[in-house]
Amino acid sequence: MTSAAAATATTAVRLTGLRRHYGDVRALDGVDLALPAGSFTAVMGPSGSGKSTLLQCAAGLDRPTAGRVEVGGVALEGLSERRLTLLRRDRIGFVFQSFNLLPSLTAAQNVALPLRLAGRRPSRAEVRGALERVGLGARAGHRPGELSGGQQQRVALARALITRPAVLFGDEPTGALDTATSRDVLAMLRELVDRDGQTIVMVTHDPVAASYADRVVFLVVGRVHGELASPTAQEVALRMARLETDAADVGDAAHVGDAEDVEDRTVRLGPDVSADSLAGGRPC
Ligand SMILES: Nc1ncnc2c1ncn2[C@@H]1O[C@H](COP(=O)(O)OP(=O)(O)OP(=O)(O)O)[C@@H](O)[C@H]1O
Ligand SMILES: [Mg+2]
Repeated sequence: MTSAAAATATTAVRLTGLRRHYGDVRALDGVDLALPAGSFTAVMGPSGSGKSTLLQCAAGLDRPTAGRVEVGGVALEGLSERRLTLLRRDRIGFVFQSFNLLPSLTAAQNVALPLRLAGRRPSRAEVRGALERVGLGARAGHRPGELSGGQQQRVALARALITRPAVLFGDEPTGALDTATSRDVLAMLRELVDRDGQTIVMVTHDPVAASYADRVVFLVVGRVHGELASPTAQEVALRMARLETDAADVGDAAHVGDAEDVEDRTVRLGPDVSADSLAGGRPC
């Protein structure tokens, strides 16, 4: 295997020159990132900085305006809608802030849904195994209304994981949970990475949530503005406070024609957002 092929084999998500423009709003404005398989990455940034757009493009739920997305070594560009749907179904898991469970189905039936939609009839053991992975083996017969918020999010996790996706994406997966329940779910995500080698990419506004990740990538107006490895909640909170103050000076997403403003702000972000830290977010 060449060194380039070896690098690809261990990279679960690779984004290259990723842009997503909505009219004149540049939600993503040239993002380069390489996320290793078996890693837990948190994506943070002020509201409107492009976090959800990044996740949706990386997960094949939205098509970028320009640039390249590779998931598990497969390039998404040029895939037909049908092939993209199959790839999403087989290789990608997604959990949202709202758990999106079907209330009339039991936990087990909710978890089985992706396989049933794919025309497969999952075995009882397979579904139970997925629920056991998230510590809910004993709740298979409960409906969402009979489960706590944290338990419902665990069912949503089991549903996202039953296809053994290359990457699990979460857009503020603990955003609707109280502090204790949120920590419970975060510990679960950490365990999925450490025990099963699951790759996870999670958007969050919570510095404590981000501290469960191996790495935090910061976005500002659609661009990567530094990262932290092995982050503590305090370090993340400090960095976010600086980024939010700075973003408030300039506004939300960049508009086409704002290039000079964005460059100015890069300089004003301060010494902790150095060229070196930015380079850490580039593909290796
Ligand atoms: N479908 C769309 N049409 C037009 N503009 C959009 C669309 N989706 C997102 N945007 C714009 O793109 C920018 C980035 O949005 P995005 O939802 O990615 O931000 P975010 O970082 O996830 O914010 P938040 O923290 O509030 O969830 C925003 O200015 C938003 O208004
Ligand atoms: Mg968002």
